[in-house]
Amino acid sequence: MSQNRELPRIASLHGSLINQIAAGEVIERPSSVVKELVENAIDSGATKIEVHVERGGAEKILIRDNGCGIHPNDLELAIQRHTTSKLRDQDGLNAINSLGFRGEALSSIASISEFSITSRISSEENAMRLEFDPYTSNTNLLPAAANIGTSVDVIKLFQPVPARRKFLRSAKTEYLHILELLKRFVLSQCHIDFYLYNNKNLVLSCRSCKDDYSDRLSTIFGTLFYKNAWFIDNSIAGIRVWGWVGNEKTFRSQSDRQYLFLNNRIIKDKHINHAVRMALDELVHESRYPSYILYVEVDPSTVDVNVHPTKQEVRFRTPRTIHDFIYAVISDVVRQHRQSGALLISDEGNKWDIHENAQQSAPTLMIKDHMINYQISNSTVDQKQVESSPIGSPVMLLSENILITRYAGGFRLVDFYNLRKYFLYTVLAEEIKSGEIKSRPLLVPVALKLNDKKIDVVLSCQESLLKMGFDTTQSGPLSITVRSIPTLLPAIDIDRAIQIFIKNYHPGSAFDLQIMLELVGEMIEISLADSNEILSMDEVKVLLKQFKILDLPFAKRNVQGYWKTMTNEDLKKIIHNGN
Ligand SMILES: Nc1ncnc2c1ncn2[C@@H]1O[C@H](COP(=O)(O)OP(=O)(O)OP(=O)(O)O)[C@@H](O)[C@H]1O
Ligand SMILES: [Mg+2]
Repeated sequence: MSQNRELPRIASLHGSLINQIAAGEVIERPSSVVKELVENAIDSGATKIEVHVERGGAEKILIRDNGCGIHPNDLELAIQRHTTSKLRDQDGLNAINSLGFRGEALSSIASISEFSITSRISSEENAMRLEFDPYTSNTNLLPAAANIGTSVDVIKLFQPVPARRKFLRSAKTEYLHILELLKRFVLSQCHIDFYLYNNKNLVLSCRSCKDDYSDRLSTIFGTLFYKNAWFIDNSIAGIRVWGWVGNEKTFRSQSDRQYLFLNNRIIKDKHINHAVRMALDELVHESRYPSYILYVEVDPSTVDVNVHPTKQEVRFRTPRTIHDFIYAVISDVVRQHRQSGALLISDEGNKWDIHENAQQSAPTLMIKDHMINYQISNSTVDQKQVESSPIGSPVMLLSENILITRYAGGFRLVDFYNLRKYFLYTVLAEEIKSGEIKSRPLLVPVALKLNDKKIDVVLSCQESLLKMGFDTTQSGPLSITVRSIPTLLPAIDIDRAIQIFIKNYHPGSAFDLQIMLELVGEMIEISLADSNEILSMDEVKVLLKQFKILDLPFAKRNVQGYWKTMTNEDLKKIIHNGN
């Protein structure tokens, strides 16, 4: 800046100019107006909200609700800057319960359009209508006929600020923004009826639903998503996360189906996105985006919603906990579905394939699924692989964890369940003996409450627990927190595992190796039984590879009880002799 140049003297800005400047931050396009007005309608307790738009909202936006209405004496105040009924003091700002709280939306919108608001409260016979002139800031208050509730008319948005009007995109594009926004509102507030009219045509009609979201989800996302989504609902330390995460059939080329609500507020959060993506990492290809609709519920005092002009982003007090919790919850659901056989990697091209409702009717479906696998692997069976594997090449997995393998001379029927148990025991015992147990940290540590006696036991054998892969710390007078568990144990009920330790503890004697090994055996037994796991063919292959690498004793000889060999001759005999 030139040194000779003098700035004009300082003067206060005119009120309407201040509002127009404020509007620049909050109102980016017509959909921003819809967002603010629908939020007001929601805050008013409405059970029905109508949105009418014309020419993408540039010509007209009308929002009508059946909420509590505005007191006639407050109407003029409502369109003033920094006037609100939702916030009174600092404490309120620290725990916001409403969608709006700044008291600036109506004043901003009124300053950049031909604006009027009509409202009636239940104790009044008539409604009142307030018109605002953005050029003169004059208001006109007059009686009107209307039902209880409020309606706001916004005509010729940005007309008073022509520079902004130039930035409007085509009516279609602006309308699509509004439609997308409405879809999010529809899913954020299920107890409200929503109607959207575009150029007088009803384009979205959603009746309220109590707890059954299926209709709304299907209307918004289509049936493919609903049928291929996993439902989750979990809570930890005052945080609840619930909703639907789509499996790989629902992955998309854009991130447009990632709906996130915090205490019913539509938000975006890159940490949560990251958590979902990480949890689905092995399913989702780099160029694809997961689909999800997640509801996060936290104590309002643990989140700051006053960090973004349009309140789309928030700041959690403990973002790491939220991230890790969501990651853990979704990872868990993916693992469960994998174990139930709902997810299956087909032999061709390593692509995941989904079998609907596999969890509910796993046994029949599993046989059917693996028949498909059977056909593939049978046709592409690699003779070298057959001969190099001591058990043979896996061909088909029956629902009871019976594996059929093929080897050069015929087939083998393998009791894969017991074979796996033996494998787990051998490896875990080896790890414990060598003092090198591999354990995996729990993303969400598990807290357990114990009585006096039991807590003493746990505290006195923490070292032995650690040798067995369980990292525990005391987290209260009568509680412990388990932070890691043995990597190899498939699915284990941690509470039960700790109770088994306690039960086997003999006062005065430290845990010796023999007891540890017995316990490990018991834990494998229950963790396999509890998980009720039905492996997929791909998981079987991974395990077989591990067996081979470890060169376990059973891999060298035909261990009685793990498999039965049937030569081609045997099979012929069965067919022809009927035995
Ligand atoms: N549809 C409505 N029904 C009832 N009251 C309303 C409605 N719209 C606005 N109001 C009243 O007008 C006030 C001002 O609304 P405005 O949107 O400007 O501010 P806010 O919602 O309080 O905060 P924010 O600027 O964060 O949205 C509200 O606090 C509310 O009392
Ligand atoms: Mg508002």
